[in-house]
Amino acid sequence: ELDTSVSNEFTLAMIKPDAVAAGKARDIMHAIESNGFYIIAKKYIQLTEAEAKEFYGEHEGKPFFPNLITFMTSGPIYALCMSKIGAISAWRALMGPTNSKEAREIKPTSLRALYGTDNTKNACHGSDSTNSARREVLFYFPDISFPQLVDQGDLRKY
Ligand code: TYD
Ligand code: MG
Repeated sequence: ELDTSVSNEFTLAMIKPDAVAAGKARDIMHAIESNGFYIIAKKYIQLTEAEAKEFYGEHEGKPFFPNLITFMTSGPIYALCMSKIGAISAWRALMGPTNSKEAREIKPTSLRALYGTDNTKNACHGSDSTNSARREVLFYFPDISFPQLVDQGDLRKY
């Protein structure tokens, strides 16, 4: 039975350069679909430095920012717009903690535990709120206008 206390949501995932280079993108997309997410849109892209800095703008000035930008521009990624009831928190739960080393300690079945390395090379990204989901989906998919998006709530209204 449908849990109507949590609404359908969209979220933005990235499969990061480490996981793509390791040949794990298919495994991660399989895990995504096995866990009930619908992949609404998908893009294979290598970010420029300017694009990576814009995407991660909230972290500008933090000590890890330069390493993050170097890593995120080091190779191609997949950006995925995904839909599911409670997608934002469900995807972050499936990814596990930010640091893959910590993930292996406390959530060994999570994707970051399975496919990431450390606090920077952590295999995947997920939006952390409805506001960031809107911004991040539109960053990669500015023309998104699927019937699903209209039926389930247009991201641009948030
Ligand atoms: P953050 O938004 O804190 O984590 P999350 O991806 O779980 O939302 O940080 C964004 C990315 O920055 C994170 O996925 C990896 C990188 N990062 C570091 O390289 N070092 C750090 O200490 C932190 C906190 C993040
Ligand atoms: Mg974050």
